[in-house]
Amino acid sequence: MANASLVIGNWKMNGNAALTRSMTDALRSAQQPTDSVKVVVCPPFTLLGELTRHCYYDNIAVGAQNVNANENGAHTGEVSIEMLKELGVEYVIIGHSERRAMYGDSNDVVAAKTAAATAAGLQAVLCVGEDKQQRDDDKTWHVVEQQLQAACEQLSAEQATKLVVAYEPIWAIGTGETATPAQAEQIHAQIRAWLTERFAAVGEKIEILYGGSVKADNAAELFAQQHIDGGLIGGASLKEDQFVAIVQAAR
Ligand code: G3H
Repeated sequence: MANASLVIGNWKMNGNAALTRSMTDALRSAQQPTDSVKVVVCPPFTLLGELTRHCYYDNIAVGAQNVNANENGAHTGEVSIEMLKELGVEYVIIGHSERRAMYGDSNDVVAAKTAAATAAGLQAVLCVGEDKQQRDDDKTWHVVEQQLQAACEQLSAEQATKLVVAYEPIWAIGTGETATPAQAEQIHAQIRAWLTERFAAVGEKIEILYGGSVKADNAAELFAQQHIDGGLIGGASLKEDQFVAIVQAAR
């Protein structure tokens, strides 16, 4: 039986206003009064306002896919924490591998964003994970630990109460190739031990999500692992039936 607590959909650069409505309608009709699974939907910036209007009375939270660590000012094309909070956004994905690879989100940039977001009270979903070559070279834990170390170096225990960690092996993202539950659980257990060492009792409670080709048919087995507290879902979060089934598999 799964006992996961958090499922986050990352729409990436996809979706439209119609999907904000149909997805929230689908999630709402599948909700149960006793639901202990929190659902977060992270659309592109342009749809955040629309989505928060649909989610206002529901147990569905809204997240952004990125944020700028600076205060409002001369940063053309960027979006600040204050702007997200004004919209009612509660979560923000930080350091997704696509941003690390294509948009200059180095460990230092990720650390600054994580520190600023958690200090401001946003839930920071910190993404970590190795690529195929690093896994083949047996460097998975080395890479993940370095990413954790860099992002958490400046965080207080209080800020860590606002942290979620998403383990996303890059070779499993959008490829249909999923880490086996045992492979994922091994890294999650190492992440749990590291967070507990770093943040003591606070670290024990940080939710650790798995991401990488989670679908309706493999979610339950992944979520049944002891240290997998939920999922960060890409492609399947764009399809109402798939995403609802994944949320149900988390219960
Ligand atoms: O943020 C989500 C992850 O990159 C996973 O994407 O479910 O399409 O593999 P995916």
